[in-house]
Amino acid sequence: MTILVTGGAGFIGSNFVLDWLADSGESVVNLDKLTYAGNLQNLASLTGDTRHVFVQGDIGDGVLLESLLAQHKPRAVVNFAAESHVDRSILGPGEFIQTNIVGTFNLLEAVRAYWGGLDADAKSAFRFLHVSTDEVYGSLSKTDPAFSETNRYEPNSPYSASKAASDHLVRAYHHTYGLPVLTTNCSNNYGPFHFPEKLIPLIIVNAQAGKPLPVYGDGQQIRDWLYVKDHCSAIRRVLEAGGLGETYNVGGWNEKPNLEIVHTVCALLDELRPRADGRPYKEQITYVTDRPGHDRRYAIDASRIERELGWTPAETFDTGIRKTVQWYLDNPDWVANVQSGGYRDWVSKQYGDSGDNTAEVASA
Ligand code: NAD
Ligand code: DAU
Repeated sequence: MTILVTGGAGFIGSNFVLDWLADSGESVVNLDKLTYAGNLQNLASLTGDTRHVFVQGDIGDGVLLESLLAQHKPRAVVNFAAESHVDRSILGPGEFIQTNIVGTFNLLEAVRAYWGGLDADAKSAFRFLHVSTDEVYGSLSKTDPAFSETNRYEPNSPYSASKAASDHLVRAYHHTYGLPVLTTNCSNNYGPFHFPEKLIPLIIVNAQAGKPLPVYGDGQQIRDWLYVKDHCSAIRRVLEAGGLGETYNVGGWNEKPNLEIVHTVCALLDELRPRADGRPYKEQITYVTDRPGHDRRYAIDASRIERELGWTPAETFDTGIRKTVQWYLDNPDWVANVQSGGYRDWVSKQYGDSGDNTAEVASA
């Protein structure tokens, strides 16, 4: 048995692939375009593992998808591939429309054709799991109840609008064509392999480099935080037991203002890797211009997935954030390669430079 994972060289996708292969004998075909956010070094520990087949390519490439599906005959597709950074979507929304909307549409079309050709048993066992975000629900006031699966979609950034559009397409393919889909809407993840353009890894990396720690606006925006491996276990559980056409909110019950997150990371660094001058890292905090249209608060009501599927997060915020800071301290080479851009040479160094945009490589 095989599953097809898209975006499996990114932050969550690579954690998912590593955990999947540690957990099951089922192989993974990993389709990733390797944008700036894709890093095959995240998967270096799979070198030599023939259960992992990496294919560099675009979810928008229907011809490639058709041949991959026909060749590997996956029993499920898990779609992580996306442009994921809100600030980049504000600076340049075009790629977000292309990958998150057009790309998801092309992926759905290819999967629909493949699924339509399966025999009855394989057809009923097949699943398409779409990984989405809590940002599609918009912004909450301090006193609003947390987002449930029935909240209205009110996306506010080009990123969240593009994810909302993809969620609607996924829903429509179930209602119109009967495609067996599942959707998860998760809150902010953190953990190993998080690209340091996002808040938590940026703070860890900048603090150690003696750089300013940029806090947008007043720093009182609230996010719910979930350790990435708990998100991966939720996805595995939904894939295994989720109801067809259903959506599941995934979160950590960990609502925190950004400034508190920054203070927590600074305090952990003070303990684990004190500054040479003995001063606290929080002295590096700098308030900067706010993100345009910045959503004030996200909060996830995860009671449905807990009640119906028995999923609960394994980490508290205290245990997860400590592990995360320690991981960055223990992996200076990963950080240096990301900062220098050296990680982008990993494919040619590791696998030879085929010059072919759709090179397929088992991790052997
Ligand atoms: P990421 O930016 O770290 O990784 C995205 C991956 O997708 C990269 O490896 C990139 O190369 C690949 N990719 C981009 N465009 C592609 C294309 N056209 N074809 C194939 N591959 C492509 O993102 P992430 O943080 O790992 O997020 C993964 C998914 O989870 C996204 O769909 C995101 O919307 C969703 N999500 C993220 C979070 C979070 O906190 N990071 C929370 C909820 C949901
Ligand atoms: O809620 C889920 C979403 O979480 C995912 O769908 C997105 O893919 C993911 O990137 C994340 O979006 P955010 O915009 O919440 O994450 P980010 O790490 O960029 O920012 C977290 C908060 O911190 C947000 O309120 C903005 C603020 N921030 C961010 C950066 C990069 C700062 O104050 N300073 C910064 O330098």
